[in-house]
Amino acid sequence: MSRCDIHPSILSADFSHLAEELQRISGADAAHVDVMDNHFVPNLTLGLPAVERLQAVSPIPLDLHLMIDDPDRWAPAYAEAGCASVTFHAEAAAAPVKLARELRAAGAKAGLAVRPATPVEPYLDLLAELDMLLIMTVEPGFGGQKFLDVTLPKLRRAAAAVKDHGGTVALQVDGGITEETIARAAEAGADTFVAGSAVYGQDDPAVAIEALRRTARE
Ligand code: DX5
Ligand code: ZN
Repeated sequence: MSRCDIHPSILSADFSHLAEELQRISGADAAHVDVMDNHFVPNLTLGLPAVERLQAVSPIPLDLHLMIDDPDRWAPAYAEAGCASVTFHAEAAAAPVKLARELRAAGAKAGLAVRPATPVEPYLDLLAELDMLLIMTVEPGFGGQKFLDVTLPKLRRAAAAVKDHGGTVALQVDGGITEETIARAAEAGADTFVAGSAVYGQDDPAVAIEALRRTARE
């Protein structure tokens, strides 16, 4: 069966009980952790010391999404902390190939993200250097926003390039993923789905994760 990974975003979790909130999504493939610096995006979340503690207690791998300026400087430390994957933004990185190589050398999967209005084409030649491509389906910065259908053509083009490349690169979508929108993203070729409010907004996150997985596979 082809890949269909669900990565709940802890941005929508209760920040006063993050260890327990990670346990509630232990049936997911990874926990998506949004690091925001109030510069690259107009919001501030958590940083390296908190991520190191989450990494120590998480029952599942951590999938880091860095929405920060100067990832060239800061991203490798998250890989060294043991995060399974570290994704940085194309718009913020000065030397994406060098950075992706550093992340891999530190033992993490390397991910590259693009905002909704950033073309993916300039980065498709870099697939050999990447383990994941993240097509943002909302403007990064906040949970609970509406899925932007205008990103679907870009997702289709990225999926075709990933397939041509041999299918080794995961194609992630992040933002506005719900039981309603996940089918459109899956149909367009995404195989890794971040969902914050759609998971933690439900009484039982485990049930929400299974429902998303089932709908994406249909
Ligand atoms: C937004 C973050 C997302 C966010 C998604 O900038 O990158 O990971 O948590 O939240 P939902 O699924 O509620 O759109
Ligand atoms: Zn994210």
